[in-house]
Amino acid sequence: MQKVIKLAKKTLEEGNLIIFPTETVYGLGGDATNIDAIKKIYKLKKRPSSNPLICHFANIKKVEENFQINIIDNLLIKKFWPGPLTLILKKKSSSLINSSLSNNVDLVGCRVPSNKIALKILNAINFPIAAPSANMTTKISSTQFNHLSDNLKSNAFSIDGGKSILGLESTVIQTFNKKIKILRLGSITIEEINIAFPKIEIEIDNFNSKISPGNQIKHYSPNLPIRINVTEVKKNEALINFGVNNLKSDICEYNLSNKGDLKEASKNLFNFLHLIDKCNCSGIAVAPIPNNGLGKTINDRLIRASII
Ligand code: TXA
Ligand code: MG
Repeated sequence: MQKVIKLAKKTLEEGNLIIFPTETVYGLGGDATNIDAIKKIYKLKKRPSSNPLICHFANIKKVEENFQINIIDNLLIKKFWPGPLTLILKKKSSSLINSSLSNNVDLVGCRVPSNKIALKILNAINFPIAAPSANMTTKISSTQFNHLSDNLKSNAFSIDGGKSILGLESTVIQTFNKKIKILRLGSITIEEINIAFPKIEIEIDNFNSKISPGNQIKHYSPNLPIRINVTEVKKNEALINFGVNNLKSDICEYNLSNKGDLKEASKNLFNFLHLIDKCNCSGIAVAPIPNNGLGKTINDRLIRASII
């Protein structure tokens, strides 16, 4: 592994890209202070330059060096970092983070991941890593090495870190005047935040906003049409099921969690979408998923994936 970390470091220092595991999904990373590396990310992913990239840091101190942090940010940081929280923070004027990764505004999404390989790479370099999820824009995120497209792999030094332990992206949050605003649902649930900070107001964005451009409607899409909340499966449709019920597919089916566990379902979701995308069916039917906790995030992804 030491050799892999060294190669990742060298690749990043030369302004090239890596694909690396995180606890949420795989990331396509480049030096966040290098405009050419950032341009490569946008070009390779075919991502509109208006959609900002998240910066990944080795530790909280490195974030503090670059950003202004208010009291509520600090509470969230202490509770959820390292981990799947992305905080939108205001850059200090002294920061070397390149403004092209945030559409030339000084608000930048920041996170300290908990994945060991990601942290080893971040500790080996002296700049943050700008990294969106390692998938083509609007396509399904990657939670395993074999989900990565050949196009991405052939243009980046790629590290196989096994299966992502969470399987859904980070929760994106911006704090305003003592209020927490959730810009993207993710692996940290509204309920978890509420339990940790019962006195702080939580506002949920309408998830289609101009504030967080990655929340454009179509996203996470397989190549096949998806129907969600189904009560019956049509002929030639594949099925993504949840829990125990009478739904059946005559083609192929996967169960996100037989025992109805939303954590297990979160880990499986993108893998099943990738698997079914390759199967010979006319579309994908998805069973109803309870709309609470991680189920809310799963439903958010499914709604976007089902938009044509
Ligand atoms: O779990 C994750 O967050 C993964 C791993 C690799 O860290 N990354 C990820 O990045 O999902 P990406 O680029 O696929 O999604 C980032 C989301 C987008 O919806 C983007 O619009 C939003 O975060 N975002 C990033 N920076 C922002 C900013 N400055 N203001 C508002 N939204 C921002
Ligand atoms: Mg993404």
